[in-house]
Amino acid sequence: MPKAFEGSGIVEGTRELAALLLQANYAMVLTGAGMDTESNIPDFRGKNGLWKNYDPRVVADISTFQQNYKLFHRFFMDQFGKMKGVKPHPGHYALAEFERRGLIKGIATQNISGLHKRAGSKNIYELHGSTNEFFCNNCGREATEEDMTEMKPCRHCGEYAVRPDVVLFGEVLPEETWKTAVNEIKKCDLLLVIGTSLEVSPVNQLPYLAKGKKVLLNNENISAGYRFDLVILGKAGEILSQLAAIIASTGVK
Ligand code: APR
Repeated sequence: MPKAFEGSGIVEGTRELAALLLQANYAMVLTGAGMDTESNIPDFRGKNGLWKNYDPRVVADISTFQQNYKLFHRFFMDQFGKMKGVKPHPGHYALAEFERRGLIKGIATQNISGLHKRAGSKNIYELHGSTNEFFCNNCGREATEEDMTEMKPCRHCGEYAVRPDVVLFGEVLPEETWKTAVNEIKKCDLLLVIGTSLEVSPVNQLPYLAKGKKVLLNNENISAGYRFDLVILGKAGEILSQLAAIIASTGVK
């Protein structure tokens, strides 16, 4: 079991992470909802997580979408509303900077917020989709955000089946995105896992594919069974900012 750095030990742990990042030839990042909570988007299973108030299998499942569109729409709009007006925090910008410096090759994310993209990251694999696009679940044709927010029928087939391009429970992940993320993580010699409970399959299998060093950056220790080489317990945004400052102080171009 690796030593977990927390509290006053976070700086030492972050220094160790900086050394691993600078030594790595092909570092990849895997993020979850804990990456977005410092941008005021609640996570799902943390202490104030969304699934404390809703049963995901009821409100975020494809069967709910098909059998009770109004309930799905109400839940989704409640969450979508919380995402309007949020913005990337310094941790998102730090990851974009690491990519610019060539220190990380890409980010596989479970998040649908689009905050990595807005912070300037380029190689992003949105494994659970994103709320940037909408389509009709009945005829597959594109729809607009307004069609979704106004709960309009599909403008092509007339069905009430407009939805966001996100992966609901009971659905498969976008095939090409998944395959690319798997290949990238198989290639990496350092995997940095940030802000995820690793409770949801198949994403929770990805850390097992990483052959090199594995680092967990999370505010609770969910590392059991994953054999992380380094565990830093704390807030992602704060720690990534410290990491960026340490990297910048090394003068790495
Ligand atoms: N810094 C670091 N860790 C944090 C922070 C933070 N600021 N905030 C929360 N965390 C931790 C939580 O303690 C928890 O361990 O991040 C983790 C978030 O876990 P989940 O809420 O389960 O989110 P995630 O792992 O992304 O969920 C996976 O489940 O419901 C589905 O589709 C949904 O993509 C989501 C998937």
